[in-house]
Amino acid sequence: MRADEGMDCHVLVLGSGGAGVRAAIEASGYGDVVLITKTIAGKGGCTPMAEGGYNAVLREQDSCGIHFEDTMKGGAYLNDPELVRTLVAESPERIADLIRWGAVFDFTENNEVAQRPFGGQRFPRTCYAGDRTGHEMMVTLIDRLGSTGVRIMSEVAALDLLKDGDRVIGAIGLDDSGELITITADSTILATGGGTRIYDISTNSASGTGDGFAIGYRAGAELIDMEMVQFHPTGAVYPYDARGRLITEAVRGEGGILTNARGERFMKRYDPERMELSTRDVVARAIVTEIMEGRGTAHGGVYLDVTHLPRQQIEEKLPVMLEQFLKFGVDIRTEPMEVAPTAHHMMGGLRITTECRTTLPGLFACGEAAGGVHGANRLGGNALADTQVYGKRAGEYAGKSEKRVKKVDPAQIRQQEQRITAFLDGKSNPAHVARELQLAMWKGAGIFRTAGDLNTTLGTIAGLSGKSLKATSARNIIECCTVQNMLLTASLVCRAALLRKESRGAHVRKDIPQNWDAQNSPFSHTYISQGREGIEKKGGAP
Ligand code: FUM
Repeated sequence: MRADEGMDCHVLVLGSGGAGVRAAIEASGYGDVVLITKTIAGKGGCTPMAEGGYNAVLREQDSCGIHFEDTMKGGAYLNDPELVRTLVAESPERIADLIRWGAVFDFTENNEVAQRPFGGQRFPRTCYAGDRTGHEMMVTLIDRLGSTGVRIMSEVAALDLLKDGDRVIGAIGLDDSGELITITADSTILATGGGTRIYDISTNSASGTGDGFAIGYRAGAELIDMEMVQFHPTGAVYPYDARGRLITEAVRGEGGILTNARGERFMKRYDPERMELSTRDVVARAIVTEIMEGRGTAHGGVYLDVTHLPRQQIEEKLPVMLEQFLKFGVDIRTEPMEVAPTAHHMMGGLRITTECRTTLPGLFACGEAAGGVHGANRLGGNALADTQVYGKRAGEYAGKSEKRVKKVDPAQIRQQEQRITAFLDGKSNPAHVARELQLAMWKGAGIFRTAGDLNTTLGTIAGLSGKSLKATSARNIIECCTVQNMLLTASLVCRAALLRKESRGAHVRKDIPQNWDAQNSPFSHTYISQGREGIEKKGGAP
């Protein structure tokens, strides 16, 4: 198909993780839907890799009010309260959808959905399917999607959004043979996930490259809180190829304890009340502090130990962890794991309303591509709930939008043609550029930050962005576009980190003395778009 001919639909969904597929399912009730994904639908994205669980208020002893408070406190009160209220109110209905569609969550002997404790929550409200919760959800969602008539186009990367004036009218993509494709739509949903692949060590799948942030920014959308990057406390430390792989919080939820090389249960010093089930920002900083102060293990981590738990509990509740570590040569029933923080989740993203409307007409966003739900630090288990609550809402409100006549400006197609042709004459290997970026981000925009380090990192990003990327095949063209997206996303993270002159949640500025706590901070969201950037004062004023 030639890009100038294109196709048209009512709703176009970009991304095939939990949020994108949920959005497509919902939108299919309102008209024809096309879903494009640079991976294979259902196999890419982070949802299938999500292990620990899905937060929902399901018991009388729990309440939406408590879930709301836990989420706001965990998020260092930077969350948009309306987005949080909606999340906690609707997540029980959305897990009911999944169960009705066939998802097999663990149940108790009393035939209730089983729930386990997760960090920063006063009630054990994390529902799970062993330690492969996201996989179970994704299989169910893809099965459901198959019955909707949604047209799925796998291995098609979205390059940029199509616009008619301010309005988004679809997207232009590239397939794996190097062919450009234009898809016009009455509404477009960005559900492209996060981007912690911009860091050296990350839990994300290969597709977590920040495409949606970059695509949204280039189109003129506003992004908020891009500095808020969550480092999950427990990633694998070795073998080298497995570095950063997620060791689920469920290990601590099931009773796992953290110790340093001296055998000390060090969380006593950082959060004696919540210990290992403190929030992720606190646990990640505690682990890094132990390592930096010389109390780490030989492989540069700390120990996460479940050897005191009954074997049956480990085998039944943590089967993926057990199997994974057996492959690394460690039997977690008898030996501790070694873990260290790994870049996991981006709390920032496109600014959205509770209807998932972005600042651009015609464009919706949901899941990790959107900002504001999780504030400065996400609670474990709230991401899977977010995918379902806001995926459904994005699909519904995009689906309800009016049908329109869309006029594609051929200059936008020519611009993409020039972009991809330039790669054929490029000089730099995109994989090498990506690697340099990841190392620079890990060093200069990680858990502890200073203005000096952030500016140095921005300088490195500018240098890398100036390189002309070389494509040797059609696949390689997509890789070049992806690396451009990674560079842009990384620059947004560093710019936002410079704008936030305080420490809050996952963002710690070592160079800034501070005499307020999160609840009394004078600041709210950082915001960045092509037109403006800054930090809001409390109450939303710029
Ligand atoms: O640790 C985990 O299983 C991750 C869960 C999450 O990020 O929500």
